[in-house]
Amino acid sequence: MNHNINIFLDTDSSITTLADVLALAAEDMQAVNSVIRQSLDSPVILIRQIAEYIIGAGGKRLRPLLVVLSARAAGYQGQQHIKLAAIIEFIHTATLLHDDVVDESDMRRGNQTANTVWGNSASVLVGDFLYSRAFQMMVGLDSMEVMRVLADATNTISEGEVQQLLNIGNLEISEADYEQIIARKTAKLFEAGCQLAADVADSPNMTTALGNYGRHLGMAFQIADDILDYAMDNPDLDKSLGDDLAEGKLTLPLIYLLENGQDCDKSAIIKAVKQPGKGDFADIQQRLERSQALAYSQKRAIEFARRAYAQLDCLPASPFRDALAYLTEFAWNRTK
Ligand code: IPE
Ligand code: IPE
Ligand code: MG
Ligand code: MG
Repeated sequence: MNHNINIFLDTDSSITTLADVLALAAEDMQAVNSVIRQSLDSPVILIRQIAEYIIGAGGKRLRPLLVVLSARAAGYQGQQHIKLAAIIEFIHTATLLHDDVVDESDMRRGNQTANTVWGNSASVLVGDFLYSRAFQMMVGLDSMEVMRVLADATNTISEGEVQQLLNIGNLEISEADYEQIIARKTAKLFEAGCQLAADVADSPNMTTALGNYGRHLGMAFQIADDILDYAMDNPDLDKSLGDDLAEGKLTLPLIYLLENGQDCDKSAIIKAVKQPGKGDFADIQQRLERSQALAYSQKRAIEFARRAYAQLDCLPASPFRDALAYLTEFAWNRTK
């Protein structure tokens, strides 16, 4: 896998590294962080403990970063986008608390998962707290459009997660089914955040382009995540490896290998998927590597990233647009 090529970046871009992107958004992201911290308050100690545990561990904060950059790229000068960005990160974090229970994951953001430390019930309930806190914060934004888009997005994410659950162990799952699942569980929130940034910025002419940008970027991002779940020697990864196979979740690399591999690859997958646990992980990892399944998946991620990039033509030139362009590269070409 190649992690060192910049295929999209304009040679005259003001942004050439992730550090440039982070520096450009630093002030806004600090403000987002303050809103996040203030909004975690609860008289119930266990809520504060768990919420601070997972949120304090950081994570990439990519979704709020996309929101603030999108709003600024749409010419926004105000502060409403800060709250929107914090809301999106709360919704994301709620999905992670639930997802780690469902996926029985033991590591998240470099720490043990909340379900490992406090158990499944506490994780699910604090996930609900974060979801509902996000909705309380939305009321403060006083925008029916924000309420509508985020109510739809959270509903769609649940549909994607349930659809994924229904497909556990399904060896017949097609690439189209897979794309529908990741569009719902992941790309929808990216789309909502970027689209609403245009709304908050009062730039309705950019809503479609930014929404499409977010959706395509989210697709590339989830495919990259599914590749990273089979990564070899990746010290950067801050969560468990091999969870998808252990759970019997067929993601793009396995779907490709089932369709294009040799008979022995197919029987190895069937055996691994039927037997929960990580026993067959190294064997499957090698088969994916040999068969071009990871290379094919990466190619698909790049195609989505390219579509995201193309949407940026509709935005005026600015360092913020350059940063959004840079993130199309990051979405597929990252190590964590
Ligand atoms: C993890 O998202 C869930 C996926 C959609 C793949 P991130 O990789 O953005 O997680 P954090 O927020 O950086 O921990
Ligand atoms: C993303 O899927 C989960 C959500 C969108 C909630 P994964 O299950 O692949 O995410 P990780 O790998 O656990 O972060
Ligand atoms: Mg998971
Ligand atoms: Mg994953």
